[in-house]
Amino acid sequence: MTTNWWTMIAAKPRGPGFWLPAQSSTIADKVDFVWDVTLWVSVFFFVLITVLMGVFVWKYRGRRGQGTTATHDHNTPLELTWTIIPTLIVVVIFWLGFETYLNMATPPQNAMTIQVTGQKWKWLFTYPNGWVDESLHVPADTDVALVMTSEDVIHSFYVPSFRVKKDVVPGRYSRLWFNAREPGEYQAFCTEYCGTDHSAMLAKVVVHEPGGYEKWLADASNLFDKYTLPQIGEIYYTKYGCKSCHSLDGTRVIGPSFQGIWGSEHALADGSRVVVDENYIRESILEPQAKVVAGYDPVMPTFKGRFKDEDVTAMIEYIKTLK
Ligand code: CUA
Repeated sequence: MTTNWWTMIAAKPRGPGFWLPAQSSTIADKVDFVWDVTLWVSVFFFVLITVLMGVFVWKYRGRRGQGTTATHDHNTPLELTWTIIPTLIVVVIFWLGFETYLNMATPPQNAMTIQVTGQKWKWLFTYPNGWVDESLHVPADTDVALVMTSEDVIHSFYVPSFRVKKDVVPGRYSRLWFNAREPGEYQAFCTEYCGTDHSAMLAKVVVHEPGGYEKWLADASNLFDKYTLPQIGEIYYTKYGCKSCHSLDGTRVIGPSFQGIWGSEHALADGSRVVVDENYIRESILEPQAKVVAGYDPVMPTFKGRFKDEDVTAMIEYIKTLK
C-alpha cells in the first residue's frame, strides 16, 4: 500500500528516547508519528480546556448582591466551530491510524515466513528448513512475516524496537510482519499476562547483515555434526521446555523427574506398570497421553511433527545419562 501522506512528512528514523528504543523497522517511525499526533493533539486540548475552565470559574464566580440565575443562549458560530474542528481532527487521526494499521496487518506477499510458537513460558521459532530456535534470527532489510500460534494460553509477541505487537492465541494463527532496518540485537517480550513466568518469557531478535542469516541457519541447524547424542538431548531439554515440567534432581514438578528414570519401573494411572526403556520414552514424547504415570495430570503436549526419530534418539541417550 502506498502511504502518500508519509512521503510528504517522512523524517529520518529516530534514535532511542526516554520511552522507547530506536525506530528499527520500516513501520516504527509511522507508528510513532500516529502516536505523537494523537498525544500532542490531546495535550493541546487538555491544557486549553483545563486553563479556560479555571479562568471561567474565576471570572464568572458568584458575587455578593448578584442574582443566582445565570442567563445563557446559543452561540451558533461558536458551537459550529467546536464541532467541526474536533471532527476533522478525529477524522485525520482515524485516517492515519487506520492506514498504518492496515499496512501493519497485511504482510507483503513475498515476505519470508517464520513460524512462532508461544508456550508457558518461552518462544520457539521454526525456520523454513525445520530448524527450531529460541531466538528470532532475520536478515536486515527484508520483509519477514511471523505466523504465530500458542500451545496453551494467550500470549502476545512484542518487539518494541520494531513497534510491532500481536496476540498469539491457541487454536488459531495470527500474523505479524516487519522489515528490520539495521543489523543488531533486539528484545522481544510476551506482553499478555500468561502466568508465573510471564515476565521471563523473552526472546532475542538477531538481525543479520546480508548473507549472515543464511550462514547462521545452516550452522545452527547442524547439531548432529557438532555434538554427541546426549549433548543434543541436553540442548533439547532446555530448548523445548522439558525443564519446565521435568526436574533433573528428583524434585516433583508438573511431570515426573528425569533423575534415574532410565530402566526404572513406573506405576501408571490405569494401574498397570511399565519399564522406562527406548520405546516407552519414544511413546511418551510423541504420544504423551498414552501412558500417564500415576499421580500426574495428562498435560504434556505432543512433540509429534516437531521431533524426528534422530531427535527422539538424542533425548533417550540424554535420559540414560541422568543417574
Ligand atoms: Cu506469555 Cu505472557
